[in-house]
Amino acid sequence: MKISVVGGGYVGLVTAACFAELGHDVSIIDHGPAKVKSINAKKPPIYEEGLEELLKRHVGTRLRASTSYDFIPLSDLTFICVGTPPNPDGSADLSKVEAASRSIGSVLKKSGNYHVVVVKSTVPPGTTQKIVIPAVLHEAEKSEDEMGFAMNPEFLREGHAVEDFIHPDRIVIGSRNLRDAARVANAYQGLSAPFLRTGLTAAEMIKYTSNSFLATKISFSNEIGNICKKLGIDVYEVMKGVGMDRRIGPSFLDAGAGFGGSCFPKDVHALIKLAETIGEDPILLRSVIDVNEKQPGRIVQLLRARIGELKGKRIAILGLAFKDNTDDVRESRSIPVIEELLESGVVITAYDPIANPSMHKIFPTITYCSTAADALRGAEGCLVMTEWPEFEDLKEEFDLMANKVIIEGRRILSIKGGEGICW
Ligand SMILES: NC(=O)c1ccc[n+]([C@@H]2O[C@H](COP(=O)([O-])OP(=O)(O)OC[C@H]3O[C@@H](n4cnc5c(N)ncnc54)[C@H](O)[C@@H]3O)[C@@H](O)[C@H]2O)c1
Repeated sequence: MKISVVGGGYVGLVTAACFAELGHDVSIIDHGPAKVKSINAKKPPIYEEGLEELLKRHVGTRLRASTSYDFIPLSDLTFICVGTPPNPDGSADLSKVEAASRSIGSVLKKSGNYHVVVVKSTVPPGTTQKIVIPAVLHEAEKSEDEMGFAMNPEFLREGHAVEDFIHPDRIVIGSRNLRDAARVANAYQGLSAPFLRTGLTAAEMIKYTSNSFLATKISFSNEIGNICKKLGIDVYEVMKGVGMDRRIGPSFLDAGAGFGGSCFPKDVHALIKLAETIGEDPILLRSVIDVNEKQPGRIVQLLRARIGELKGKRIAILGLAFKDNTDDVRESRSIPVIEELLESGVVITAYDPIANPSMHKIFPTITYCSTAADALRGAEGCLVMTEWPEFEDLKEEFDLMANKVIIEGRRILSIKGGEGICW
């Protein structure tokens, strides 16, 4: 099939590269010329395991990037993968989705082919029907039955995005009719995953509900972790026992500094806002956010309890990315920690295996180190904020500290006797 993907970010680029791997001819349209240049040079503008190999294999043959929408009329299917960032009030900003829809419609004006536009961006229920379809049809000057539409939410995890695309738990396709759903399902041919066909709004709601449920599991584990810490119980032992229950499952029960990233905080906020606008009071979802926002402050409190006045002290921060295996620092829990430390007059030395440059854009004045040892040398305290597997091997590096106070926001170190945020 010929596929276009609008938006070459984390989701769009991985989707496009993986569709090329499945044998399709794929064009990425992104309005960032630097990103387009980098993709065409086979250099992923983001870090994702396995992505560079896919670009090396397919760019120049069946994968390309462009700033021009002219590839769209030549394709059978266009996926919208642009960002849906939060508005100041927490609701989803749909302006990029609307702009992309209009641009897609305008290039399809003269096309006689039956084209299916698929929303992959995470959007509130009703967006495809109320915003995307009218915008595309208006610009294309077409009627409802001359074009197809679908909503196909994306569930990939950053850091494992390629693997998740190739081995998904399920593929959800929301559509108005079987014809459109079948066209989207065709694009995924070759993957062995169950398909779930739904209406457009149910597909949109599945994505918000999945993310909100996972965020709830994390905040729940953190609350239990905070209680366990006071009781002197190891929350990891507790959650191991809890997760062995098939009704609960073991994932997303790791207590720690809370969730970050570009999706969970924004999607839970957007669902809260949506609920409020229809007169619902989403008590549970608000608590999920409350617990999450308080966790980073707890790690700084622990540090203060151990080393006293923070002013003028040098503190090492290990891990800046919101999770391991990514250079993404959006909503990373290390951001509020760094902010609070800087406000307290702390001198920070930070190390992340790949996210130093991303965090430098937010905090240009702190010292970024190229090894954990450099960050730890002479430090009077250390906070571990990302579960990078390489931190597991750190041992004698901690002997370089002036005062060996180590507090983990993620349980990753293999050295014994360390303190954690919830343990
Ligand atoms: N990042 C994730 O892990 C993840 C996972 C599942 C779903 N999602 C959802 O997928 C969507 C995209 O997320 P992302 O992280 O890939 O965003 P991103 O910000 O990394 O990428 C979006 C890209 O779209 C481009 N763009 C914006 N408007 C455009 C336009 N009109 N025409 C062409 N290009 C345009 C931008 O230049 C950017 O490269 C969001 O709705 C997000 O919630 C993200």
